[in-house]
Amino acid sequence: MKQIKINGGRPLSGEIHIGGAKNSAVALIPAALLADGISVISNVPNITDRDALFDIIKSLGVNVTMEGSVVTIDSTHMENLEISEKLSNRLRASYYFMGVLLAKYKHVEIYFPGGCNIGERPIDLHLKGFEALGAHIDYNQDTHKYIISAENLTGSRVNLDFASVGATINIMFAATMANGTTIIENAAKETEIINIADFLNAMGAKITGAGTSTITIEGVDKLTSADIRVIPDRIEAGTYLLMGALLGDDLIVCGVNPDHITAVLNKLKDMGIKFSINGDRIKISKCDNLNPINITTLVYPGFPTDLGQPMSVLLTQANGTSLFEETIWENRMQHVEYLNKMGAGITLKDNTHAIINGPTKLKGSQINATDLRGGAALVMAGLIAEGETTISNIEYILRGYENIIRKLKNVGADIKIIKTEE
Ligand code: EPZ
Repeated sequence: MKQIKINGGRPLSGEIHIGGAKNSAVALIPAALLADGISVISNVPNITDRDALFDIIKSLGVNVTMEGSVVTIDSTHMENLEISEKLSNRLRASYYFMGVLLAKYKHVEIYFPGGCNIGERPIDLHLKGFEALGAHIDYNQDTHKYIISAENLTGSRVNLDFASVGATINIMFAATMANGTTIIENAAKETEIINIADFLNAMGAKITGAGTSTITIEGVDKLTSADIRVIPDRIEAGTYLLMGALLGDDLIVCGVNPDHITAVLNKLKDMGIKFSINGDRIKISKCDNLNPINITTLVYPGFPTDLGQPMSVLLTQANGTSLFEETIWENRMQHVEYLNKMGAGITLKDNTHAIINGPTKLKGSQINATDLRGGAALVMAGLIAEGETTISNIEYILRGYENIIRKLKNVGADIKIIKTEE
């Protein structure tokens, strides 16, 4: 079994380079299959979710090659085969093959997606969008298999009950080659959606409004392969900035788009943290007097849910009581028991409201990652704790933070992966 071992208290100084956004890359890779031919996606992060997607597209007869962070996808000989339950289950983003294969073949056979257990994670909004375009959904309750098919896909107005990131992207995929125009209202506005719309438009799609709450997709006959660059990962950048606020000694986070994390930067300012922005580089240092604040996670451009758990670690060091409310997912507080085991003073009112009293000294402990961002929060806690921390279940963390051990070691952290017998 692999574990992360950390000796806490080391200052972090030097440069951390941010990779491509996981939540963009996991949609761009399936999107490449919409066209026949060779597409090139650059700045793809080195994360295990990427590898899971490669396994899925290879199972469809698609050829994938990689040179560093540049991925070449050749869908010339792809076949519309069933995506097995094992492959569907590897990650949440497997659901993007629904919209892609429905658009291309008007038929897809796949199973319910995987992903971190941060909530029930239904996909009803995706399915309602496909039905609005004329698709028929056949779902087998026992096998969790979906067969989604359509005689024709016809543009339609879709109003999302919730500004779902996945549903917005999936319906955009399904609408690219539908007859007529589709309008998605109450669309998600996350920056990754603009990145994906740019890729689809480069392939010949006609999409306007990405990044706003109304996206219009005019169906076209076919799409041709194209190239795209993955935008920087705003959640990875935010995670390292929070570490810098705890341990930074002129830590420089490089390759960031500061415009994608204004809500996070505003909260750092509210806590009294000083940082300087120079283009795509943000320099940050440890702040000894952190003001307590209240955090409510919201859809973009509000404070991102994916940084709620890492932020809760920073709040354990604030001088006073902070309130943390998670409004997007119903089970995103599983990391709290481990922070309290280390000495934090967090009270859970319920599964979405935490009262965080600080400052508290954290002591190194044996703890377990419970999900991707909860795992990142535990790494942060280990970095500031006194003594040694070992973290199990680290595969959660490696699915979304590329080369996290190397990046932290390079700026002075005492952190490594150890192998223990099962
Ligand atoms: C994406 O998940 C991200 N994952 C999540 O990041 C992120 O937390 C989330 O967007 C919100 O920003 C990927 O992009 C792979 P949603 P997604 O659809 O698309 C409900 C991480 O840590 N909902 O916006 O699955 C849902 O239950 C991960 O990188 C429905 O009810 O999120 C949740 O309460 C975690 N029905 C809310 O909407 C649906 O059909 C947000 O979901 C779809 C969603």
